[in-house]
Amino acid sequence: MNEYQEWAKETLTKVREKMAWVIEKNKEKIPYTTDENGSYDDRSDPNREWGPDDGLNWWTNGFWGGICWLLWQDTKEPLYEETARKSWKKMERCFTDYLGLHHDVGFMFLPTAVADYRLTGNADAKRVGMHAANLLAGRFNPAGGYIRAWNDIPGSDTRGWAIIDCMMNISLLYWASEESGDPRFRQIAVTHADTVRKHFIRPDGSACHIVEFDPETGACVKSHGGQGYGEGSSWTRGQGWAVYGFADSYAHTGKKEYLYTAKQAAHYCIANIPESGILPVDFRQPEEPAWEDSCGACVIAGGLLEVARHVPEAEQGIYVRAAVKLLRAIDTSRADWTKGCDAIVQNCSPAYHDCPHHITMSYADYYFIEALCKLAGTGIFLW
Ligand code: GLY
Repeated sequence: MNEYQEWAKETLTKVREKMAWVIEKNKEKIPYTTDENGSYDDRSDPNREWGPDDGLNWWTNGFWGGICWLLWQDTKEPLYEETARKSWKKMERCFTDYLGLHHDVGFMFLPTAVADYRLTGNADAKRVGMHAANLLAGRFNPAGGYIRAWNDIPGSDTRGWAIIDCMMNISLLYWASEESGDPRFRQIAVTHADTVRKHFIRPDGSACHIVEFDPETGACVKSHGGQGYGEGSSWTRGQGWAVYGFADSYAHTGKKEYLYTAKQAAHYCIANIPESGILPVDFRQPEEPAWEDSCGACVIAGGLLEVARHVPEAEQGIYVRAAVKLLRAIDTSRADWTKGCDAIVQNCSPAYHDCPHHITMSYADYYFIEALCKLAGTGIFLW
């Protein structure tokens, strides 16, 4: 066992200790963030008034079940299995409501229903995963060769918007083709990934968050800053989606150009990691205010470890060392290991310009735990 594996295993022991009481306490919920008392909210709470895509449709709702499955892989703890399964069964209602669903059906159903099917062979979970994949495929626009990201946003015409995050959602399409033998899903995923390579990834390896296409002709119109600092900037979490997403597309297709792009995006990230290992919301933001995003660090770490899986052993060190630097910085200075907060990872920022900053987000915990599992060599690959 090398020193990184040893550290990951020790840190996973702390994760398991904390998550044992966190999951017991929140087993009826689908959490996103914690309140001022450190308690998780519940995006599945039927007694709260939710916006069209805030409640059960909220895009991060898959990560709670995902955390439970990650921990179930080692422990086989029945509570984790039940909690994970309960989450996708609740989210299934989104299919009948339909209007609030978006391209993040991948993030919602891959770590929950598809993970359930992969880990336990649950046939009902497979049905739900295939349903989600068909909805995602239905968002494909053949004119521009992209998957439409969001639904209508008042004041913006989003019909032609594609976003870098979707590189993770298309994993659902690869799975659907692998499972059904029907190449349609994979062909859509590959066409989308080719479009993203061409229009999102800049020569220096950085990535745009949003690119707008003309939804009728498919012509590329412009890029938008999205959740980052501005147009032409480099939203940290988006860089992570690029590294991880292209490595994942390589894993499913074996297309060398995807691994090349993943490495290009990875080297851009590595060159921009500060000595502290603490990442800003955007690699090109001004020095002040010094908003951080620990979640972006966890996503990048997961992506770097995924790249490492696909390069020769002699080349793995640069990716693994950078990932460990990010994860250690979280462990030593941005993690809450106490009973004072339900979440582990602190100082996450949903977007540069939106308040609040420095909150907890369930998917930061998911990617932190997933990266530790990858380093420790435990569990199956869920994407
Ligand atoms: N929109 C996905 C994210 O916030 O990372």
